[in-house]
Amino acid sequence: MTRLAAEQRHRIRFTLNGEAVDRLCEPRMLLTDFIRHEIGATGTHVGCEHGVCGACTVNIDGQPARACLTLALQVEGCEVRTVESLADKQGRLGVLQSAFRKHHALQCGFCTAGILISLDALFARRADADEAEIRDVLTGHLCRCTGYAPIVKAALEAATELRGDISHEPIDA
Ligand code: FES
Ligand code: FES
Repeated sequence: MTRLAAEQRHRIRFTLNGEAVDRLCEPRMLLTDFIRHEIGATGTHVGCEHGVCGACTVNIDGQPARACLTLALQVEGCEVRTVESLADKQGRLGVLQSAFRKHHALQCGFCTAGILISLDALFARRADADEAEIRDVLTGHLCRCTGYAPIVKAALEAATELRGDISHEPIDA
């Protein structure tokens, strides 16, 4: 890297999936590119790149946000979570992911990371979210494969389990 290029970069510090990030970043770099190419966390997908499809959704300070519309420098000091945070350190799937797997709520999986992040944020703030609220969240996500019905079914089961009303056998990753 030339000295000029280095001087054009800005220091950015934030938390990604519980780990501190302290890097230099170009001013116009998108959060999607920073997470995927600078950090190497490729679970966050990139589809339309202009805020329509929802594939790039990440959690910023508890709120789902389009990473393709967010500059990396905008998350300075924030807590950012991506789909990688939903499984545990051993790679065992979380409740929502296990329900998606059980109900075949994904095919190509391109939309899945963003949908999981948005539903996770919904359940974090509304433990008793109902089907209408789940469907409302899904209006922000395009899925060309599933027809959405298995996603809704999986989300409803996960919501019930997260409330402690039922439990199903854990599914290993
Ligand atoms: S890639 Fe961000 S909304 Fe489609
Ligand atoms: S599973 Fe293919 S786009 Fe949703």
